[in-house]
Amino acid sequence: MLEQFKKDVLEGLSAEPKRLPSKYFYDERGDELFVQIMHLPEYYLTRAEHEIFRDQTDNIIQELGISPDKHFELIELGAGDGTKTKELLAKLTANGFSFEYLPIDISQNALDGLKGSLSLELPEVCCRPKQGDYFEVLESLKSGKHQKIVLFLGSNIGNLSDERATDFMNELGKTLNSGDILFLGVDNLKDESIVLPAYNDSSGVTRAFNLNLLERINRELDANFIIEDFEHAPEYTVESGVAKSFLKSMKDQRVTIDSIGAEFHFKKGEKIHTEVSRKYNDVIIEKITKNAPFEISSKLSDSNNYFTDYILRISNYS
Ligand code: AVJ
Repeated sequence: MLEQFKKDVLEGLSAEPKRLPSKYFYDERGDELFVQIMHLPEYYLTRAEHEIFRDQTDNIIQELGISPDKHFELIELGAGDGTKTKELLAKLTANGFSFEYLPIDISQNALDGLKGSLSLELPEVCCRPKQGDYFEVLESLKSGKHQKIVLFLGSNIGNLSDERATDFMNELGKTLNSGDILFLGVDNLKDESIVLPAYNDSSGVTRAFNLNLLERINRELDANFIIEDFEHAPEYTVESGVAKSFLKSMKDQRVTIDSIGAEFHFKKGEKIHTEVSRKYNDVIIEKITKNAPFEISSKLSDSNNYFTDYILRISNYS
């Protein structure tokens, strides 16, 4: 883990332009800051998707085409605290559906928290958490005979470039069978007056979230980044459809990272690219699923039309 972190930091900061992988945002401090982000007035994504789960639960169940007499597995990739999913779980339970809930996460800590809260709030739900890599766990579930409904919410897919999202869809398709469903939550393409503030909130939480990446490198890799000498610099245009976050060097400076024995030079105004958050519409969803066996079956959006949950069905017959 630490070796991979070193390798990725060395590679990213040696590249031109400089970059760092967004997956390293999520250490303990980063997890805390992300929870705060989800509650920010400017960060509409979580609220919009929660509204869909709260106000359109019956519609979701109808569009999934499930019935109480057919057992299924509800698999969630990167479940977090499960707030949105619990709306669906409660309704499924109340209506007598027969299913198992299988949250998959790389963090055992996140899974323990979710399992604990579910056993208090919805003790009837059969929850079997699976710790590990998404694809390894999905592969291990592939031979199961029940229908699978895979939830991938929160526009988490948006952190992948379209090329990597396409690969992701292909890989995911391979682990599913005919009749299985991918329930994919994505942020809609929309004007910058709404998107940009979501990544540049007035209370500075997103700024702290971005800068925490440098603090993490200081902590874990013995580096000497001076945090005040870097600035959070988000960008978004509706033409690009991709929100990008950067850390901009406020002056000419050198930074040493002792654990990798390297020194990096930053020019004044030079930027490190730290994150992409893709925004979607049907055309882009079709593009990233064009080689995968998925077909758009239906979609649900919130009342502002900020966010969409797509129901994608496996279209091949094997
Ligand atoms: C968790 C990837 C969906 O891209 O909107 C929030 C992460 N980054 N604010 C997003 C994030 C800055 C978030 N995702």
